[in-house]
Amino acid sequence: MKIDFETAVSELKKGKVIAIPTETVYGLAASLFCEEAIATIYRLKNRPQANPLIVHGSCFDQVKNLIKEMPPKAAALANRFWPGPLTLILPATDLVPSLARAGLPSVAIRIPNLTITTKLLERVGPLVAPSANLSGRPSSTAPQHVERDFGEEFQVLDGGVCTAGVESTILLFQEGEWQIGRVGALAKELLEETLGEKINHAKNASCPGAHFKHYSPKADLTLGEGDYPGTPAVVVGYSDRTYSGATRLFSLGQSTDAEEVAHNLYHTLRQLDEEKIEAAWVDIRLPETGLFATLLERLKRAGQ
Ligand code: TXA
Ligand code: MG
Repeated sequence: MKIDFETAVSELKKGKVIAIPTETVYGLAASLFCEEAIATIYRLKNRPQANPLIVHGSCFDQVKNLIKEMPPKAAALANRFWPGPLTLILPATDLVPSLARAGLPSVAIRIPNLTITTKLLERVGPLVAPSANLSGRPSSTAPQHVERDFGEEFQVLDGGVCTAGVESTILLFQEGEWQIGRVGALAKELLEETLGEKINHAKNASCPGAHFKHYSPKADLTLGEGDYPGTPAVVVGYSDRTYSGATRLFSLGQSTDAEEVAHNLYHTLRQLDEEKIEAAWVDIRLPETGLFATLLERLKRAGQ
């Protein structure tokens, strides 16, 4: 159920959980300082308690008392990419409830880049918000996706369709360097430019979410790296390619336009479920650079 801005403010102040838009995907939001509501988020999503949440702020000033110290170059990253689709894992102060960070000494911080959400955060303070999907399912990029997972009565602040369409990129500082915990909407190359060095991928253990099944529709997906073999008859592919013998193409957009594919990705994966598709061939013949690297990772995880 779509709700207006003032209703969203009052529900969050009352300690309720609602869905909010961001430029990446919709989030299931609660006040950082309402532990009961945070517990509700884990329960609603059916999320393992070992998988911590991201704290969202309106600006750096709003979250600075949650951060114990800024690792080297953290300020440069924040200056260049906030507000935006970058999440930094930073040492936490005691102000961050242990439940929000799954008992870890660190906290995930992000400043989203969407006006209505910035205004909301200014009014209600920092919010924890994991992606607004049942654990393991594709994320939500529109209010109707949230309603599909949590019911039509579930309250959603309407921000339209998310522009980026995939989650924020997560960086963590360990072993003396910044490492990627999750590839995301912000291309690794842009981060490398700011840091002035190559960025390695963190071992899975550093980002608890990486352990869990993700982004998957119910359909059995076959990841296609070569030419389309003619089966399954349903294809998830691109509008500028042909798939001879396919009975149905779920198009992600043009194979040359990573932004367009990202924007359409979760809607398309969810569409397979809406239409009760049982099996599909997924075209993963994409470059391995920039935002395409994120798309490849998400498609591969969806097909696991
Ligand atoms: O774009 C996004 O990041 C969206 C929107 C709503 O902001 N949020 C999102 O949240 O994707 P979620 O909960 O689906 O993913 C958060 C990821 C998980 O993989 C989690 O393990 C990791 O962040 N994470 C959170 N806190 C962490 C911490 N202290 N250390 C390491 N990883 C952490
Ligand atoms: Mg998620």
